[in-house]
Amino acid sequence: MSDKTLQAVRGMNDILPDEAELWLWFEEVVRDWLHSYGYRNIRMPLVEPTALFKRAIGEVTDIVEKEMYSFEDSLNGDLLTLRPEGTASCVRAVLQHNLLYNAPQRLYYSGQMFRHERPQKGRYRQFNQYGVEALGFAGPDIDAEQILMCARLWHKLGLRDVTLQMNTLGDAAARKRHRAKLIDYFGRRQDMLDADAVRRLHTNPLRILDSKNPAMQGLIDAAPKLMDEIDDDALQHFAAVQAILEQHDVAFEINPRLVRGLDYYNRTVFEWVTTDLGAQGTICAGGRYDGLIEQIGGKPAPATGFAMGVERLLALLQDSGMTLPRQQVDAYVAHQGELAGRLASSVAERLRDDGLRVLLHCGGGSFKSQMKKADASGAYVAVVIGDDEARAGEASVKPMQGGEQTRVALDALTRTVNQFIK
Ligand code: HAM
Repeated sequence: MSDKTLQAVRGMNDILPDEAELWLWFEEVVRDWLHSYGYRNIRMPLVEPTALFKRAIGEVTDIVEKEMYSFEDSLNGDLLTLRPEGTASCVRAVLQHNLLYNAPQRLYYSGQMFRHERPQKGRYRQFNQYGVEALGFAGPDIDAEQILMCARLWHKLGLRDVTLQMNTLGDAAARKRHRAKLIDYFGRRQDMLDADAVRRLHTNPLRILDSKNPAMQGLIDAAPKLMDEIDDDALQHFAAVQAILEQHDVAFEINPRLVRGLDYYNRTVFEWVTTDLGAQGTICAGGRYDGLIEQIGGKPAPATGFAMGVERLLALLQDSGMTLPRQQVDAYVAHQGELAGRLASSVAERLRDDGLRVLLHCGGGSFKSQMKKADASGAYVAVVIGDDEARAGEASVKPMQGGEQTRVALDALTRTVNQFIK
């Protein structure tokens, strides 16, 4: 490739046709699954006011501090951001259009998200999510239903090595007490903290618990536990979620260190993880966010949701050896000569009228080279029209898997082609 050839932006991928077939198949499976739980589609813009994400995700999170694609609108100076996730936008749209006015909402969206992270396998700067949000529901039943939903999808997709980790973050008051205790605990041991942790001490001490720095693990293990601060209501909520999962035989692991990287969560949080994808093993994650709607300016209302990473899920499916039958056309229309050329395009349109998928040969060339293309296209038959056939108002049908070529009247063409379609 010459130096002048422009390349895609690092961390942003082209999905080429072979792979796109897998995406299309996946999207169909996921849409059916979402509809089977009564979720309805919502579509939000890719660009939102920067302030939305700062307020929703939190000023002192990795996403807001260093991963957002933010820019100033050169016409009016507005501060805008390419969405790094969908929950904030979804809540913004629901409030803006008053969707929660008198009914709770089960909504889903899909599409590209943007985070300026260091690209590696399973971690991209533009990636795709399916997001699922239930707004206006307070009880543990919906938390559990969303987790059961995920389990059903993994089963549908044939994914076996995916495990569920859960935690409860309690409510705002408990987290406030815990935060004060963490600041006190880590504050007395500042000499044992790395620079990142020192910086977070007063802004977001909870994230220190997330540190992967091996030198700090002992310190983190002995830190005050959020679980010790959590109120009875929240504990009962969590116990009820677990009971429903047990009722449905969905296995889970309680991971007290699961805190999530976005600030809006409370109570139930969960992640579905696999060890088959290397470092980026979380394929789906979410939880309850009862404070977010009010934080974005709405009347207080509870909510819970999750999002799955499409690239990671598809990588997992591909690694498990999944293959799809190649999406193919039914007929390849080959033709030679001027009269035949005119008839061929009408024949192709008519076959499409009859519901068939048809590739009309374009660009001339010998019948021999056209038949090679017909073979490569995966079509079940070639419909061959020479001037001879054209003058007679007929076409020849050649089965590509072998068999006699037959010449038929145009009226019988669709019927004949259909005989060879598997
Ligand atoms: P999140 O954990 O930031 O949560 O992202 C959800 C999923 O998106 C991850 O588990 C992962 O599969 C995928 N993902 C995230 N970042 C990347 C990346 N750079 N490259 C590829 N895949 C990625 C949220 O976004 C929340 N909005 C989820 C939610 C919805 N919570 C409540 N409702």
